[in-house]
Amino acid sequence: MKKVRIGIVGMGNMGRFHAQDLLDGKVDGGELVAVASTSPEKLKEYGEQGLKVFDGGEEMIQSGEIDAIVIATPHYQHVSLGMQALDAGLHLMVEKPIAAHKADAERLIAKAKEKEDLVFAGMFQLRVEPRYRKIKELVEAGELGQLMRVVWIMTDWFRSDAYYQSGGWRATWKGEGGGVLLNQCLHQLDAMQWMVGMPSKVNSQVGIGKWHDIEVEDDVSCYMEFPHGASGLFLTSTGETPGSNRLEISGTKGRLLLENDRLVFTRNAVPSDEWCKTSKIGFKQPETTVEELDIPGAEAPHSILMTNFTNAILKGEDLIAPGEEGLGSVELANAMLFSGLLEGPLELPMDGVAWEDKLNELIAGSTHEKKVVELSGDDFSASFRR
Ligand SMILES: NC(=O)c1ccc[n+]([C@@H]2O[C@H](COP(=O)([O-])OP(=O)(O)OC[C@H]3O[C@@H](n4cnc5c(N)ncnc54)[C@H](O)[C@@H]3O)[C@@H](O)[C@H]2O)c1
Repeated sequence: MKKVRIGIVGMGNMGRFHAQDLLDGKVDGGELVAVASTSPEKLKEYGEQGLKVFDGGEEMIQSGEIDAIVIATPHYQHVSLGMQALDAGLHLMVEKPIAAHKADAERLIAKAKEKEDLVFAGMFQLRVEPRYRKIKELVEAGELGQLMRVVWIMTDWFRSDAYYQSGGWRATWKGEGGGVLLNQCLHQLDAMQWMVGMPSKVNSQVGIGKWHDIEVEDDVSCYMEFPHGASGLFLTSTGETPGSNRLEISGTKGRLLLENDRLVFTRNAVPSDEWCKTSKIGFKQPETTVEELDIPGAEAPHSILMTNFTNAILKGEDLIAPGEEGLGSVELANAMLFSGLLEGPLELPMDGVAWEDKLNELIAGSTHEKKVVELSGDDFSASFRR
């Protein structure tokens, strides 16, 4: 195989974005040959460029026209279409989240394990961002010492009512399975567990439709405990302006602060635990040195991951974001929400089946009337946050 023949299913915001990257030649080793959507009449422009246009993912999967599929549909279909694609012998790149809930994610992962010769990747583009890669490297090298606190204020995910009305699936239990945690924050939840590991306990307060006319969460304050002894907070909202994106990771040897694309490492001259035990005076802190790490962001993170996907197929390159690693962020999104609904702490690993049951209860009990209005005039790519 010289080039991987790629088909994209789900040609909304994200599907079109990936299609453009492929058509612009940004993905070495990948060639877009087909697109599929439940509204194929909106895909004429692709047909005019010589691509095959399918009415749905199933038809494209069975067509024999593609070697790999990119799934950019609403979340629930990531698993149903993903499993069909693997069964048909296709390599799979699935948009985030890999599933709407943990039990479903495990089904997809189990199917991928049966098909070990196929590449299964997830679209977690923060993993290619150099600043997050640097944080992970510093944490893993022990440069922060014993981790003490992880605080992420991620309230910079503002969405208007018009955004929520732009798709029938958005912000519904049935169409999406959650709100800000599963959709917008999935990136931060993936990056957090990739950099510092999974918490062992979460305890949340969640606001359901607190700032919007929606039936899922749009405001979350979550306290976390990690097995390595650190505690932390994860705060998010789609209602706040101006929001913040501030990540602070503290350890005995210092503190990393990432805010407004600036990464600053403040190192303690003496680790805080040692200073605490040896200092003969009560208030003074150890001396510090402040290092500004001047690291530019990635130019085109999605196409870097897509190129990695085709390289994994063609050359056996290691995946930057293996699909099965998408389980952590789904579990965090589910657990933080479930804890809020239960109004109490939840231990991790969580019971995925219990959450699936709860979700089905929420779907069955939904009385919310969803208004759908087509959105126009937005620059979708401006919605990406780092
Ligand atoms: N990685 C990122 O930066 C990023 C950014 C935005 C969205 N996403 C993810 O991409 C996915 C899609 O989000 P979006 O904003 O593009 O949504 P969207 O509503 O703009 O597009 C979804 C498209 O899927 C189509 N569709 C729905 N069900 C389908 C089915 N069964 N078969 C084929 N097509 C179907 C719809 O007609 C629509 O065109 C979501 O899972 C979202 O989390 C990822």
